This record gives sequence, C-alpha cells and structure tokens, in this order.
Amino acid sequence: MDLVFATNNQYKLREVRKMLPPGISLLSLKDIGCSDELPETGSTLEANASQKARYVFEKYGRKCFADDTGLEVVALDGRPGVLSARYSGTSCNAEDNLKKLLLELKGESNRMARFKTVIALYLTEIPVLFEGIIQGSISESATGSGGFGYDPVFIPEGYSVSFAEMTPEQKNGMSHRFLAIQKFTGWLKDRNL
Ligand code: IMP
Repeated sequence: MDLVFATNNQYKLREVRKMLPPGISLLSLKDIGCSDELPETGSTLEANASQKARYVFEKYGRKCFADDTGLEVVALDGRPGVLSARYSGTSCNAEDNLKKLLLELKGESNRMARFKTVIALYLTEIPVLFEGIIQGSISESATGSGGFGYDPVFIPEGYSVSFAEMTPEQKNGMSHRFLAIQKFTGWLKDRNL
C-alpha cells in the first residue's frame, strides 16, 4: 500500500521509513509534489496530527498519516506540550527551544518528562488515532549529536544517556514515535491492510 507521511521534517521521515514493514511504500510530500506548509493550529496533539493528515488527504486524494509530538515536563505543568515546536517563539529553532527549557528548569529537582506522539491515519475521511508515550527526564545540559529537536536533553527512563547520544537504531527501537507506529502497523495488520 502507498501511504504518504505528511511531514516536512526529514528526520521524522528517515526514522519512520525504517520502522515500517516492507508492505508499506512510504511517500514523502515531495514525492506527491506538495511543498505546502501544513496547517497546525490545533490546541492538542490529536487536533494537529489530524489537521496535517486531513490537509493532504483532501487536497491530494492520497491515503496518508501525520504525527504530532510534544515534550511534556512535569515541573512545567506539561509544557511545552503542543507548543514544543514554537516554545521560544514562532521563528525559533531547536537550539533556542533547548536553551529556554534548560533555563526554565534551572535549579528544579523534579526533571520528570515524557514524549508523546499522536499519529492520525486517513485511509477514509474518518481518521484513526494512535498514541505513543515514553517516560524519562530532562538532563542538566544538552549532550550528544544524534537525533533532532529535544533529543540532546531527553534521557529515557532506565538509561543514563540522552536520545541524542544513542544510535538511531537504539532511539528508534524504543521512542514515542516507534510505540505509536507499532500500534499503527498492528492495526493495519489486523485488518489485512
Ligand atoms: P512536531 O511534531 O513536528 O510539531 O514537533 C514538535 C516539536 O517536538 C519540535 O520542536 C520537534 O523538534 C520536537 N520533536 C518531535 N519529535 C521529536 C523527537 O523524536 N525527539 C526530539 N524532539 C522531537
């Protein structure tokens, strides 16, 4: 089955491509001639994932899915959450977001956090949602050069290194996105899709 992954994030595309079974042929937005900025104006991860996938499903008539991810920090009442991408402003980058997060947690002893990914799948006009959550903590400083986004400060529970210090195989075998993709591919398999 051909499925479009509605994302402009090349890191996500690379990660997800490796997680999918061989029966699924993953297409990028570029593959279908889409260079649009996808809408992402919802107030929840569920709403944003659905909005991005629905846009491609309706405009291009393609079976597709999108994900939306948030880093939820306990001491910050769940922030940055759905605002993770724009945490330090609309035109910020990952480094700005990391700096802001570490500053906000300065001197804070409760470093507990989790990554949550929601995937919205559109095979028909009724979306199906899948969720993946990984628990962990925020380190005192950024370490490692792998991965992307908040990976240099996120230490998954049971480990002493950040996602950015792991090999791609290690991160992609346990991450929030992997857990959501597992549910998603299990759902397809149950329906012989
Ligand atoms: P979005 O899902 O593309 O909206 O991402 C929200 C924010 O979370 C962005 O700042 C991403 O860089 C970050 N993010 C998404 N997935 C990951 C991940 O797997 N590791 C680290 N940061 C991530």
